[in-house]
Amino acid sequence: MSQNRSKKPRATSSGQGARKAGSHGVLVAESIAVVEPPEPQAERGVYTSIWLVTFFALILYWAGLYVDSYGGHFNSLVSARGDMLADLEDRVPKSETDELFARGKQVYTTYCVACHQPNGRGVAGQFPPLAGSDWVNGVGPNRMVRIVLNGFQGPVTVSGQQFNNVMLAWRAQLSDEDIAAVLTFVRTNKDWGNSSTAVSAAKVAEIRQATEGRSGYWTADELLAIPDSD
Ligand code: HEC
Repeated sequence: MSQNRSKKPRATSSGQGARKAGSHGVLVAESIAVVEPPEPQAERGVYTSIWLVTFFALILYWAGLYVDSYGGHFNSLVSARGDMLADLEDRVPKSETDELFARGKQVYTTYCVACHQPNGRGVAGQFPPLAGSDWVNGVGPNRMVRIVLNGFQGPVTVSGQQFNNVMLAWRAQLSDEDIAAVLTFVRTNKDWGNSSTAVSAAKVAEIRQATEGRSGYWTADELLAIPDSD
């Protein structure tokens, strides 16, 4: 009989109770009757405290207010810091040569680029190069300033190439500052392989005065007779 029971694992609870009761009798049977089946685990803990929900809702609300008041509303000064940096760099005072260079680039683009070209290499047989030119990279600017003030004509050799053309005078159109700027741009232009010194407006003014009475374009021979630097 007992062997029979142990072979039946699916005995009912009452059957088990009866079995466990054995000789201990009623006491054991009672304690078994008190045990209730445990609540299914899955149903526990799915309920969240309303206070927790309220708490997070309040935090979200506060965060929204915070972003609203300190977020900058997509203002470019806040959202686009790169622009801000560029803006700042624009305002930082630059060296005198940097300013002359920037202005000279404008003058060059307005008055010289048509012939001497954006890359400063000119046009073979017509317009001589300024990039790498001996006339440009002389020690001083005495000849260059004269070329721009009064023009240049006749046979000339620039970087081994022959030219025989005419460049008009700019004395009337360009101020001392403009000429100083454009010559600084040309002479210190590293992209063109030039690394000479900047030219000051005072120097241009001095040469402008010294050549006031002159009319007519310079020739290469005339210029070569003038010392390039003081
Ligand atoms: C209409 C065309 C033209 C324009 C514009 C022009 N040039 Fe020239 N430039 C020439 C020619 C042509 C020569 C060579 C003249 C010759 O053959 O004797 C020359 C020669 C020169 C030279 C000496 C030779 C050399 O190549 O180094 C310099 C320096 C120069 N120009 C600078 C300038 C500057 C700076 C400007 C602007 C302010 C300018 N030129 C505008 C045509 C021009």
